[in-house]
Amino acid sequence: MTRRDATVALLALAGCESKPKMQERRDLHSFARPYEVRTKHLDLDLEVSFDSKTLRGSVTHTLERTDPAAPFLLDTSGLSIEKVETGSKPEGPFAAAQFTIAPAQPTFGAALTIPLPSDATAVRIHYSTSPQASGLQWLDPSQTAGKKRPFLYSQSQAIHARSWIPCQDTPGVRATYRARIRTPKDLIALMSARSDFRLANPKEPPSGDYSFRMPLAIPAYLIALAVGDLEFRYLSTRTGVWAEPSVVDAAAREFVDTERMMQAAEKLFGPYVWQRYDVLVLPPSFPFGGMENPLLTFATPTILAGDKSLVSLVAHELAHSWSGNLVTNATWSDFWLNEGFTTYCERRIQEAVYGAERAKMEAALGYQSLEDELKSHPPADQILHIDLTGRDPDDGATEIPYEKGALFLTHIEQVFGRETFDKWLRAYFANFQFQSITTAEFRSYLRNDLLAYDAARANRIPLDEWLTKPGLPTTAPKPTSDAFAPVEEVAKQWQAKDASDTKPRTRDWNTHQWLHFLRALTDSSDAAKMAQLDRAFAFTASGNSEILFQWLRMSVRHGYTPAHPRLEEFLTRVGRRKFVRPLFEELLKTDYGRKRAEAIYAKARPGYHPITASTIDGLFSKKLPKPQ
Ligand code: BES
Ligand code: ZN
Repeated sequence: MTRRDATVALLALAGCESKPKMQERRDLHSFARPYEVRTKHLDLDLEVSFDSKTLRGSVTHTLERTDPAAPFLLDTSGLSIEKVETGSKPEGPFAAAQFTIAPAQPTFGAALTIPLPSDATAVRIHYSTSPQASGLQWLDPSQTAGKKRPFLYSQSQAIHARSWIPCQDTPGVRATYRARIRTPKDLIALMSARSDFRLANPKEPPSGDYSFRMPLAIPAYLIALAVGDLEFRYLSTRTGVWAEPSVVDAAAREFVDTERMMQAAEKLFGPYVWQRYDVLVLPPSFPFGGMENPLLTFATPTILAGDKSLVSLVAHELAHSWSGNLVTNATWSDFWLNEGFTTYCERRIQEAVYGAERAKMEAALGYQSLEDELKSHPPADQILHIDLTGRDPDDGATEIPYEKGALFLTHIEQVFGRETFDKWLRAYFANFQFQSITTAEFRSYLRNDLLAYDAARANRIPLDEWLTKPGLPTTAPKPTSDAFAPVEEVAKQWQAKDASDTKPRTRDWNTHQWLHFLRALTDSSDAAKMAQLDRAFAFTASGNSEILFQWLRMSVRHGYTPAHPRLEEFLTRVGRRKFVRPLFEELLKTDYGRKRAEAIYAKARPGYHPITASTIDGLFSKKLPKPQ
């Protein structure tokens, strides 16, 4: 062994950065080279123009330079870069600088390269966004609840921050930020950051000129902005809800338990470091259920069921305040570290606030979705540490990182016992706080700080299988709920005949039981059975989005035409991809359905977010499987 080899071996033993570790940290979805030049802070100064549907202004990056010869590389997508300046201080003075923009690549956008003078530590980029920016949705007044004022919101995860900010758009880079946002005078601007008016008196916001600061380092995908006709309601001194005026009171009623959720979460996972926790309820075109923007979860209005039955979404986004926002996946291949941990933590919060049975029902429903999802993905995509080379990171956002990841942690919890596991979990969050970590780093922390203490228990957990193999280990836990037993009995009777006489037995069922009921009948029904079910339970008129979605999906599958007007109403109002995609998929399975899908999509598409629209465009352009 040469001296150099020996040093490398020693460094590897000591856990220092070695070649393979660098490889694991490489983010295939970003052009940035943070190991050469890294953003530490961003200063945004943007004007919001609803007339041109653009953001225009500048971002100033404060840099840390490791390689003095290297240029500054950033991600951009659809931006027009007007001018670039460099300086030795973020407050200036600045001097004009050269820059080049590489040809744009589909999905990833265009690399922006800025050569740096030797003393430059600040770079200011003057730019504007495109009206088609993939990370922004500009809503006309008709797409809002109030119908009078326009609305704008961002959705940066996974790689859309680059469509509204030239930045190092990789979860491996964390930076603090400040922002000044100019808006039309009668609209409110909110960001995933602290702001004085939110604390002092949210009822009297500054008019048209907002300042925000995020003093804790976060990845670019957590930078978020929303502008609209918004009102605030306190839920507790440190939690609240923002929504359009006609929605805000219903939202406040639905989310009354948010403070209790926070207290449960802090007890389980450690202190909440971000300051406030507010939920912003967006218009129904929001393509996701929720997004964990720090201090300000963005949420779909489709969880406003009137009975708090769908608030696990709030528990989920709140849990990201630890898993995801505090300890972040280093690359999108490590996405399960964000979502699997969060799904596990979400259920722990639900259990603490609503009791063990509710958490069990939610876990059991999650398990069913996981089983379905495993059936429809090739083995390589069933692996927690997924290979996303050359692919859109969105491809990895299936139920697998969520539910398989949560099941993995549940397995460890069950083998080691709650007390030991919870201690380890708190230590994990404390140990990696404000870091972006890889699956390998998680794995070695689990080994050294939990498994190593009890070999007998550790041997019961097939670590390698959980992390690197498709499917589920045979020893995986299988969540079930006693509350589903009576549901299965009634479902069985319905499978046999029109069992309207079972109605009294369903009187006290909750949303989760109804969902279990519908799933049990999904495959075995036909149009006649659907009509009987609808007569007995009026599913077509359901105001609960999850129940309605499940019902509409069955209706398409079994050709239950009386539900079609409701289907059209739903698909033209709601843009949440989890609902919209399976419904179009189902429609596209038959010729008749395709015609209906085309007619509905022509009406619905203008209202969809670019993310949902591009997903549905993809379904329509997919070739039909050849008849056998
Ligand atoms: N961070 C995700 C949303 C996301 C994931 C956006 C990947 C873009 C790319 C968020 O925390 C989430 O998981 N939302 C879920 C709801 C949750 C209760 C499972 C959703 O939107 O369906
Ligand atoms: Zn999540």
